[in-house]
Amino acid sequence: METLVVDQGADRRTIARLMFNLIVPRPIAWITTLSENGKVNLAPFSFYNGITTRPPLIMVSIGRRKDGSSKDTARNIRRSGEFVVNLVTEEFLEAMVKSGQDFPPEESELEALGLEAEPSVAVAPPRVKGVKAALECKLYELIEIGEAPMDLVIARVVAFHYEPKLLETSKGVVGRLGGKRYTIVDNEVEVIP
Ligand SMILES: Cc1cc2nc3c(=O)[nH]c(=O)nc-3n(C[C@H](O)[C@H](O)[C@H](O)COP(=O)(O)O)c2cc1C
Repeated sequence: METLVVDQGADRRTIARLMFNLIVPRPIAWITTLSENGKVNLAPFSFYNGITTRPPLIMVSIGRRKDGSSKDTARNIRRSGEFVVNLVTEEFLEAMVKSGQDFPPEESELEALGLEAEPSVAVAPPRVKGVKAALECKLYELIEIGEAPMDLVIARVVAFHYEPKLLETSKGVVGRLGGKRYTIVDNEVEVIP
């Protein structure tokens, strides 16, 4: 067993590696936003989780680029206050990973990846057509945090779209592990206390 005390000179890469490998599996928010000129932007974020159910609040942490500029997703959320979290299941794994590459803001990841959009009911950005669930969200609070700093987005879910069987099983849902590794839910253990 190794021990690393952060304030005793641990290097940033090791700390990041520990965060990415020990906090697992992470849910993935595959986020659609609209750019200023109406293009659909799509990118995955795995520092993502639920906060509370009343109201239904979620959080997503969006880092800055190496040059210190905001990612398109953060810029679009800050400007429009709206986004959609698409659930990633196995059939979308490859497309989701590709959408995490740096696309120029004028290019829509959705079009580039051959995906289609499905209109939302309560926000302007659409969801990805064919996903098994999507959460339409409105910005609740944006907190600049950390050294970069990065953007901690807190949002209220205003509409859920879901396949009803997701209320019984999460089989096929993708989670993020460390490095370039992912996990797909394939065995669930029900434990009755
Ligand atoms: C599975 C996965 C998870 C990711 N999680 C995060 C994250 O939590 N925070 C973050 O800032 N970037 C994360 N990224 C990187 C962004 O997706 C990437 O920077 C993307 O280009 C941002 O796109 P945008 O500029 O269109 O917003 C992740 C990438 C992948 C593939």
